[in-house]
Amino acid sequence: MELAIIGAGHVGLVTGACFAEQGHRVTMVDNDAAKIRKLKRGVMPIYEPGLEPLVKRGISRRRLTFTTAMPSAVKTSQIIFICVTTPQKPSGEADLTVVENVCRQIAQAMTSYRLIVGKSTVPVQTGERLKETIQTYLRKGIPFDVASNPEFLREGSAVRDLMEPDRIVIGVETPRAKALLTELYESFDAPLVVTDIASAELIKHASNSFLATKISYINAMATICERSGADVMKVAEGMGLDPRIGPAFLQAGIGWGGSCFPKDVNAFIHIADKLGYDFQLLKAVRAINDAQRDAIVKKVEELLWIVKDKTIGVWGVAFKPDTDDIRNAPALEILQRLEQEGARLQLYDPHALARLNGQFRGMKRCRSAYEAARGADCLLLLTEWQEFKDLNFTRLKQLVKRPLLVDGRNFFRPEVVGRAGFRYVGVGRP
Ligand code: UGA
Repeated sequence: MELAIIGAGHVGLVTGACFAEQGHRVTMVDNDAAKIRKLKRGVMPIYEPGLEPLVKRGISRRRLTFTTAMPSAVKTSQIIFICVTTPQKPSGEADLTVVENVCRQIAQAMTSYRLIVGKSTVPVQTGERLKETIQTYLRKGIPFDVASNPEFLREGSAVRDLMEPDRIVIGVETPRAKALLTELYESFDAPLVVTDIASAELIKHASNSFLATKISYINAMATICERSGADVMKVAEGMGLDPRIGPAFLQAGIGWGGSCFPKDVNAFIHIADKLGYDFQLLKAVRAINDAQRDAIVKKVEELLWIVKDKTIGVWGVAFKPDTDDIRNAPALEILQRLEQEGARLQLYDPHALARLNGQFRGMKRCRSAYEAARGADCLLLLTEWQEFKDLNFTRLKQLVKRPLLVDGRNFFRPEVVGRAGFRYVGVGRP
C-alpha cells in the first residue's frame, strides 16, 4: 500500500520503517529539514536498537522516502498517519496545535479519497475534531475517513513491539476505513480489536495509566516493605505469579518517567476533569511517583549526612535503559536536587550524556562507570543499563572513597555488592 507518515519522531519513524519492511511504500514527512536531510543519508535522529538497519534497508529498496513536502506525500498515499507530537500545556492538558495544523495541510492537499489515521496519543473525542477540521479545509465533495490507531510501542524495544505487537487497535466509522486498515495489518500475527473511534482513543490512555498505576502500586508496596522489614522483590514475585496480576511492570524503583507516562497521566486527569469526573485514583498514582524521587534523595542524604561537597558517582540518566531519551527522566530531578545541595556529581550513561546539552554545567561527564566511581563518597544507580551487570565491585571498592551504593532500580544483588565490602541500599529491600 502507499502510505504517508506525518512526523518522523519516535513513533512515526519506527512505524514508517516497519511498514516499509512489510513491503509497503512509505513517505515520511517532517517539517524539520535538517532531520529529513540526515534521514535521507540513513543517519538516525534517535538511539533505538534495530532501527538503523531497518531504515537503511527501506531506503535501499526504495520503499522508504523522506520529505518536508506535505502535498506530494498526500497526493501519492492511500492512508495518512498522523504521528506528530502532542506536548503538554502548563495545565497538564495535551496541546493539539500541531495535530490541527497538520490536518489542515492534509485537507488542503487532498484531491480524492484518503483515510486519515491518528496515531499520536490524543484526548478522547479528538477524532471528531479531526473530521471537522478536514471538512472545513477540504474542497467540497471529496470523500474521506478518519480513524484512530493508537500505538503501544516502548522506547528501547520499539522495533520488536511494532513488528510483533500483542494487539492492534483500530477505531473506525465506516466499512471502507475498516477494510483499508484490516488489509494493512493483514500480515501481522496479532489480535485485531476493531472499535469506534472514541474507544480506540481511550484504550491508549487507559492502558498507559493502568501501567503507571501498576508501577506506583509496587512503589507504595516498597515503602511499606521498608517500614516492615519485608522485601518488595519477593512481594512482587509472589504477586506476579498470579496470572490475573502478571509479573510485568512490578519493578519498584525511582518511579516512572519518559515522554509518555508523565504527560499521558496528566492529560488523562485533565480529560476526566473536563468530562466531569475527578480521577482521584490517578492523582494518587502521580503523587506516589513524585514521592519515589524524593525518597531516593533522602536515602543519599541519610547515608552521607552532609551532602555538600561530597562526590556522588551516578550511573545512568536516561529514563530507562536502551534509549538515549532523557525527557522527564526521574534521574534529572534527583540530580538537580543533589546539585542544589552542593554535591559534586560524576555521571556516566552509555548513550544519554550527549542529550544533556547545557544542563548540569558543574557535573563531570565520565566515559565509564569506573571513572564515575573514582573518589566517590557514594554511588547511585538511576538507570539499569545491562552493561552495569558486569561491574566488578572488588575493583570499584579500590576506586571509591566510601563503599556506599544506592541502587535506585533494585538492579544489583545485595549479597554480591555486600561481599565486596559495600553497604547496599535498594528500594523496599531489607
Ligand atoms: C510506554 C508504554 O509502555 C508503551 O506501551 C506506550 O506505547 C508508550 O509509553 C507511549 O505512550 O508511547 P515507554 O514510555 O517507552 O512506553 O517506556 P516503559 O517501558 O513503559 O517505561 C516507562 C517508565 O516506567 C520508565 O521510566 C521505566 O523505568 C518505568 N518502569 C517500568 C518502572 O519503574 N517499573 C517497571 O516495572 C516498569
